[in-house]
Amino acid sequence: MRLGNNRILVSAVSILTIWRGINHFSAMAWRSHGINNRDMVSHLKRNGVFHSYEVEEAMSQVDRKYYSEHNPYMDAPQGIGYGATISAPHMHGTVLEALKDHLINGTRALDVGSGSGYLTVCMALMMGEKGRVIGIDHIKGLVDLSLANVKKDKVGHSLLQSQRIKLLVGDGRLGYPEEGPFDAIHVGAASPSLPHALMNQLKYGGRLIVPIGPEGGNQTLEQIDRKEDGTFTHRTLMGVMYVPLTEKDQQWPY
Ligand SMILES: C[S@@+](CC[C@H](N)C(=O)[O-])C[C@H]1O[C@@H](n2cnc3c(N)ncnc32)[C@H](O)[C@@H]1O
Repeated sequence: MRLGNNRILVSAVSILTIWRGINHFSAMAWRSHGINNRDMVSHLKRNGVFHSYEVEEAMSQVDRKYYSEHNPYMDAPQGIGYGATISAPHMHGTVLEALKDHLINGTRALDVGSGSGYLTVCMALMMGEKGRVIGIDHIKGLVDLSLANVKKDKVGHSLLQSQRIKLLVGDGRLGYPEEGPFDAIHVGAASPSLPHALMNQLKYGGRLIVPIGPEGGNQTLEQIDRKEDGTFTHRTLMGVMYVPLTEKDQQWPY
C-alpha cells in the first residue's frame, strides 16, 4: 500500500516536471522574434530552442524572407495561402535539432507537408552534398509557391539545380516509397493517429518526427525511432498546435 502511494507520488511529480518543462519551453519558444534572420537565429539559440552548430548554420543560411511574405522573423506561424502556414521558427529549430543526427551527409529524408519549402531547404543543407530531401505537399498551389520561393533564394536554388531537393505534389500520408526508405522523416501537419505508412518507410535506425492528435485538440510532437531490429520506440517531445494532415478538399475545397 505504502509502495503504491509512493508510486502515485512519483508519477505526480514526474507529470508536474514534464508539464513545467513543456510550459517553460513554450514560454521561451514563442519569444524568439528577430529584426532580421541572424537576430532571430541568435534568439532561438539563446532561448535553448536548439543547441547544435549544424542547426544554427542551416537556419542562418536560409533567410526566411524568401519563404514568408508576412513577418518572416516573427516567432509565430504565418499564413502562406491555401489554408496553410509556414510553421513558427521555434518549431523549425526544434524539429531540426531532433533530427540532427539523422540529417548527415549522404542520407535521404522526406518532408511531408513541405508548404513554403523552408524546412526542406534547411534539412538538405544539413545533409551535405550527397544528401537528398523530398518535400511533398498535397496542394499544387503550395508546391508552385515553394518552387518560386526556393528559386528566389540563392541557397535554395542551387539545391534545386543539383537535385539535392525535390518538391512534388502528392498525398504525404502515403509517403514516397519510390525514393524510400528514409533516414529521416518530418511531418509538418498533425496526424490523427500513428502514421503507419510513413513508419514503414523509415530505414532501420531512422527517425520520424510527427505531431499527433486531433484537429484543434490535444496534440503532441512525437519522436518515433526505428531500431536496428525493425521495431519502433516512441518519445513525446512537447505539446504542440498544428493544422491537420488531411484530405486535400478538407483543407482547400476550391
Ligand atoms: C503547418 S503547414 C507546414 C508547412 C511547412 N512545414 C512550412 O513550415 O512551410 C502544414 C502543411 O501540410 C500540408 N498537408 C496537410 N495534409 C497533407 C497531406 N495529406 N499530404 C501532404 N501535405 C499535407 C499542408 O498543405 C501544409 O502545407
